[in-house]
Amino acid sequence: MSATPNSLFRHYLDSLIQQGTTRASLTDEARNVLRTWYVAARQGGRPAASASASPKPPPLQTSAPAPAEMPEPPELLPQSGEPAFSITLPEGTMEDKLQYLRHLAQNWKPARELNSLRDTMVFATGNPHTKLMLIGEAPGYYEEVQQEPFVGRAGEKLNQILRAMGLSRDMVYISNIVKFRPALPNQRTNNRAPTPEEIEACLPIIMHEIRVIQPKMIIALGGTAAVGLLGEQGSVSSMRGRFHNLNGIPVRVTYHPSYLLRSDSPREKRKVWEDMLAVMERLDMPISEKQRGYFLPRE
Ligand code: URA
Repeated sequence: MSATPNSLFRHYLDSLIQQGTTRASLTDEARNVLRTWYVAARQGGRPAASASASPKPPPLQTSAPAPAEMPEPPELLPQSGEPAFSITLPEGTMEDKLQYLRHLAQNWKPARELNSLRDTMVFATGNPHTKLMLIGEAPGYYEEVQQEPFVGRAGEKLNQILRAMGLSRDMVYISNIVKFRPALPNQRTNNRAPTPEEIEACLPIIMHEIRVIQPKMIIALGGTAAVGLLGEQGSVSSMRGRFHNLNGIPVRVTYHPSYLLRSDSPREKRKVWEDMLAVMERLDMPISEKQRGYFLPRE
């Protein structure tokens, strides 16, 4: 179903609610549009075309209070018992939904309120119509500058891994569990890992990306992503070597590409490669003998 002005506006209001906004005053024009929708909904019909023709959400005013006679549109309120961060995805295409999540992430109050993350939001890259989703921990300096995940040195390493699998960045979907670069005092190009609070604050966004993409397989790149997604404590070495289950989607945990930048012995490379071979097998991807033998010790 495609998004209508009505549903877009509803989801715009939902996003305000999800960001903690409890009051919004409306212009006269917006109020009239809402009133028409409300009356039409009460009558079980669709709003008249002229009333729903507004292409953009009506602008919000912060000053004038809402008039007493304007009834609260009933469907706009969150259901009782829903967590404060619950996200209602709009109807529409996968791209519409991701666009909505991207916008939501930019102003995501649970993350912003921590005051420990930088301002630039780095969302995701690649092909949402993919079987394979890769999830890292958080953007670093280069990712923040280019507003794209995995474009620094760890990104180059990830590209090499994908190439060895016969894939490219535009064949998979690449995202991070935390959408903002963790801040440090006097920060230049140095980065830090996100804290458990930062991960928890951003978790609803990545979980909804997964819900939208519905990949056949997730690769958790490094311990931060693995622990955050799976909610289990453990090191990469204790979590790799098998498939985990995230709402029915197999998750393979492997070392973060930056680990291979630090320790790129054939033995460590082979460990990551064995994880990738397991993923390829599970996805029924072709695997050549040459690929099977990568990074094995020479006789
Ligand atoms: N490391 C990550 O985990 N994500 C990035 O986007 C870059 C480096």
